[in-house]
Amino acid sequence: MMARSERDRWDLASSVGATATSVAASRAFASREPDPLISDPYAATLVEAVGLPHFVAVARGEIDFGDDPLFGAEQMREHIAVRTRYFDGFFAAAVDAGIRQAVILASGLDTRAYRLPWPDGTVVFEIDQPSVIEFKTRVLAQAGATPAADRRTVGIDLRENWPTVLRECGFDTAAPTAWIAEGLLIYLPPEAQDRLLADITALSAPGSRLATEHMDAQALTGDWAKAMTERARRHGSDIDLTELFYSGPRNSAADQLRELGWQVSVLPNADAYAANGFAPPADHLRAMIGVSGYLSAELGGCPDDPHR
Ligand SMILES: C[S@@+](CC[C@H](N)C(=O)[O-])C[C@H]1O[C@@H](n2cnc3c(N)ncnc32)[C@H](O)[C@@H]1O
Repeated sequence: MMARSERDRWDLASSVGATATSVAASRAFASREPDPLISDPYAATLVEAVGLPHFVAVARGEIDFGDDPLFGAEQMREHIAVRTRYFDGFFAAAVDAGIRQAVILASGLDTRAYRLPWPDGTVVFEIDQPSVIEFKTRVLAQAGATPAADRRTVGIDLRENWPTVLRECGFDTAAPTAWIAEGLLIYLPPEAQDRLLADITALSAPGSRLATEHMDAQALTGDWAKAMTERARRHGSDIDLTELFYSGPRNSAADQLRELGWQVSVLPNADAYAANGFAPPADHLRAMIGVSGYLSAELGGCPDDPHR
């Protein structure tokens, strides 16, 4: 696998694109009967269509992860359930507050535009690399799925001038927006993350909201990526996070957003698990990354309201 470069490109079977397939495989697995923790009815179809054997096996529940405290079947289901429900809940609260414009950054195989109950008139933009966007649109159309909102796709690299293209696709800078960046920031070079958050802010009307993962920027080192990759390899994954992450020093998104005028709330991982009735995995790889969790922010909003 190639290390990262400024203009690297991928599809859902290669480089960073395969990480989208990996997450979708977990969602498919956690959506399986008889005891689903989430319901993503399209994840399995998408993972099968990508066809990477390991992730097809994960989606089908055919992998025996033994009792690995991070990759065990139940741990994997709970992890993706906590994550999926957090971002689903974020959009539900935004919609309840009257927001009718959403942007899913690095949408990968996210199916929220198809599976969430969007109120009439909601516009949902999805941004990812062109071949990622085209693949999902085509496979879901072939499967007979229809978007539940006015879904608009923007196939562009987030290191490029995506705000201009987003506006050309009808994004309304006067309307408050709900943004999510799920599983994205660590795949961006530090300066591209800074630029992304500044661009989001410039496009956001007052009352806009944003959710992403909260990472301890200092703790997420190359050592962690290496240890995580080695562990995942034992279970058949060939994704090399050491090649995909930009794991050097970077600004904390929470700090940067505060400086840009956002009110930021962080939900630590342990609390996110507890909110779902689960216990966080006791594993040294978890401990290595410090206090991680989920972050939501509102432009001009009130701090520390966990329901935002
Ligand atoms: C771990 S996946 C997450 C996908 C989706 N948000 C989810 O949680 O299921 C990372 C995604 O980020 C996208 N991505 C990473 N860097 C990007 C960039 N520079 N431009 C556009 N998309 C990018 C990849 O294509 C991939 O879909």
